Amino acid sequence: MRLLSLVTGSELVLLVLFLGAVQSNALKLNLTDSKGTCLYAEWEMNFTVTYKAADQTNKTVNIAVPDKVTHNGSSCGDDRNVAKIMIQLGSTVSWAVNFTKESSQYTIQDIEISYNTSDNTTFPGAVDKGVFTVKDPVKFEVPMDVIFKCNSVLTFKLTPVVQHYWGIHLQAFVQNGTVSKNEKVCEEDQTVTTVAPVIHTTVPSPPTTLTPTSTPIPPPTVGNYSIHNGNTTCLLATMGLQLNITEEKVPFIFNINPATTNFSGSCHPQTAQLRLNNSQIKYLDFIFAVKNEKRFYLKEVNINMYLANGSAFNISNNNLSFWDAPLGSSYMCNKEQVVSVSRTFQINTFNLKVQPFNVTKGEYSTAQECSLDDDTILIPIIVGAGLSGLIIVIVIAYLIGRRKTYAGYQTL
Ligand SMILES: *[C@@H]1O[C@H](CO)[C@@H](O)[C@H](O)[C@H]1NC(C)=O
Ligand SMILES: *[C@@H]1O[C@H](CO)[C@@H](O)[C@H](O)[C@H]1NC(C)=O
Ligand SMILES: *[C@@H]1O[C@H](CO)[C@@H](O)[C@H](O)[C@H]1NC(C)=O
Ligand SMILES: *[C@@H]1O[C@H](CO)[C@@H](O)[C@H](O)[C@H]1NC(C)=O
Ligand SMILES: *[C@@H]1O[C@H](CO)[C@@H](O)[C@H](O)[C@H]1NC(C)=O
Ligand SMILES: *[C@@H]1O[C@H](CO)[C@@H](O)[C@H](O)[C@H]1NC(C)=O
Ligand SMILES: *[C@@H]1O[C@H](CO)[C@@H](O)[C@H](O)[C@H]1NC(C)=O
Ligand SMILES: *[C@@H]1O[C@H](CO)[C@@H](O)[C@H](O)[C@H]1NC(C)=O
Ligand SMILES: *[C@@H]1O[C@H](CO)[C@@H](O)[C@H](O)[C@H]1NC(C)=O
Repeated sequence: MRLLSLVTGSELVLLVLFLGAVQSNALKLNLTDSKGTCLYAEWEMNFTVTYKAADQTNKTVNIAVPDKVTHNGSSCGDDRNVAKIMIQLGSTVSWAVNFTKESSQYTIQDIEISYNTSDNTTFPGAVDKGVFTVKDPVKFEVPMDVIFKCNSVLTFKLTPVVQHYWGIHLQAFVQNGTVSKNEKVCEEDQTVTTVAPVIHTTVPSPPTTLTPTSTPIPPPTVGNYSIHNGNTTCLLATMGLQLNITEEKVPFIFNINPATTNFSGSCHPQTAQLRLNNSQIKYLDFIFAVKNEKRFYLKEVNINMYLANGSAFNISNNNLSFWDAPLGSSYMCNKEQVVSVSRTFQINTFNLKVQPFNVTKGEYSTAQECSLDDDTILIPIIVGAGLSGLIIVIVIAYLIGRRKTYAGYQTL
């Protein structure tokens, strides 16, 4: 057993541990920061690479984890930056994976393998010499705060490279310096059918269906938000909020969790503000205004948040007109309603009730309901349909009656 300990920077300590005397393919990584462990990974892997040799035949070589590996470029990541594991198997082959943090989970993605066929020892007689890179589009979602375990062999085919992984114990974005005791076991381990444990086979072209937004999105939790002016409540809002950002082809859907979201705000005679923020959202402002001294409405929404890839998303619109209701009342919409802020940003609201002005005794006043909830519009339709039905019945009865009299049919 060999122990290799490296210090890469003041707060990042890495341990790469090789178990077993011969090549065991086992890797163990414990990235730490000031709080303790921030990324923990233990796994085994090997690959085969097929390349064209001088005699025009295809040769396949096995690549196992050698004795000496470096981990240059590995990092723990945070809310803004992806976490990465980068492993260099000598100077010929390198392997990397990213972990992208979302709200309650992270995605394992972008497994990348580079190999240098100019290395005559590993790739004897290779015709096409140079550095080749394959990037696996596979995406795995893992919940936060659990250790992901997978003992089964996972096989990914990405011509000309075939990858095998097994014995995986992994937790990225470790929250408080300690690896979780809660486990998530991969599907492959759960269905232990003893036969061919080779499950995953991916081809590079079609993007996987495991992206966060292609699965059905649960509705957001409804949160209560209230703003005080001195001792009195001056703004009340109850709502489930779902953000939909469509800067890319696949929309980024983000449910706001009220339990981990702070709120603040202010009330003035003509304007009121509610500001939400959490670890991912720097601020999300709802700004209300009064119009014609009679009604209030949602005039402005500003958002500044970090996207999954760490880049900032900053949108403002102060020319909106949503949630319009008379002053002294509240506005309510139980059905899902869309607040379209910009071409790339909309907020879906659920079980909305809001009163930004004239709150008395800390309670909502009578609500004005949105037209989506309003069933009264159906009444004229039903009455109308009923009336026209009645007229048709009368006309038919009249016609039948006439035919009966003229044709002299017997009555039943
Ligand atoms: C690579 O790993 C797979 C799966 O564990 C195993 O079947 C295969 O023998 C390994 N190849 C080498 C060369 O060690
Ligand atoms: C990794 O970094 C170390 C120094 O931290 C350096 O000596 C080594 O050459 C690097 N290895 C690779 C493969 O970049
Ligand atoms: C993921 O890792 C690859 C290298 O493996 C890198 O080129 C890419 O930019 C990373 N993706 C993100 C979103 O950082
Ligand atoms: C690839 O390997 C060859 C031979 O070992 C070496 O000369 C060359 O610099 C390597 N290329 C890269 C990009 O590392
Ligand atoms: C922090 O670590 C302790 C000890 O492992 C654990 O019980 C607790 O749930 C952790 N808290 C969070 C928020 O992860
Ligand atoms: C929000 O407030 C309503 C009424 O004021 C209450 O019924 C509900 O339980 C509250 N929800 C939460 C999550 O506090
Ligand atoms: C997100 O917005 C896009 C573009 O406006 C829309 O097509 C999609 O249905 C929306 N998704 C949700 C869940 O609101
Ligand atoms: C992050 O993703 C957004 C779209 O969702 C894109 O516009 C932006 O360029 C990306 N930033 C980085 C650093 O990849
Ligand atoms: C966000 O946008 C607002 C107005 O559009 C601007 O004042 C502010 O500087 C921007 N912030 C960042 C971090 O880009």
